Amino acid sequence: MKHEVARAAAQGVESGMTLGLGSGSTAAILIEDLGKRLQAGDLTDIRGVPTSFQATILAQQYGIPLVTLNEIDHMDLAIDGADEVDPHRNLIKGGGGCQTREKLVDCRADRFVVVVDATKLSDVLGSHFPLPVEVLPDAYRQVMARLAEMGAQPELRMAVRKAGPVVTDQGNLLVDAKFAAINDPAALEKDINNIPGVVENGLFVGMADEVLVGEIVDGKSAVRSL
Ligand code: A5P
Repeated sequence: MKHEVARAAAQGVESGMTLGLGSGSTAAILIEDLGKRLQAGDLTDIRGVPTSFQATILAQQYGIPLVTLNEIDHMDLAIDGADEVDPHRNLIKGGGGCQTREKLVDCRADRFVVVVDATKLSDVLGSHFPLPVEVLPDAYRQVMARLAEMGAQPELRMAVRKAGPVVTDQGNLLVDAKFAAINDPAALEKDINNIPGVVENGLFVGMADEVLVGEIVDGKSAVRSL
């Protein structure tokens, strides 16, 4: 499903475009696809703005020229994954800890397209996935206490195959805040970002122009627009 939806989104990429390159396993398939089309000559003159160190490494591996946000006047399209998507196309992102730069890049694009498989769809955000919050290292305990007061169960994200917590691409820590349900994502996005020490949270409200969903229908993979 991830392959199908990533390839469907890649079809919307045209020569000459400046592109936001998303993070996560679905976006990685997209970057690989774009790199192969570039190498085959099907695409020319594209430039990528990476949303993470992961996207930077992949783009370099596949020969996609990169630019920074401060070097561009506009971005045509950003394509990125998500961890949970509601019927209003609001998102939870940050399962890979990249939500800060993802939000910076994705909000800059003329068009922001999200690529997910059907397991990411939910009626109410927070039902399936904890909300990732990037915090300054000195602030993690007080931010966790504030998130608990707001009704969440906060957990400091711990690293795998590295001792201690996950450190983000910006050198900060991540708190995963499990809410039973996020009924007003727009208000919660602002309230959390208003806590001193919070850098960015993974709620993306009213940003996605299109959500492409990969699913299996009658035993065959298919892609639909939400
Ligand atoms: C990265 O921080 C996330 O926002 C990803 O975009 C999200 O976790 C989706 O990842 P997958 O495509 O791997 O499910």
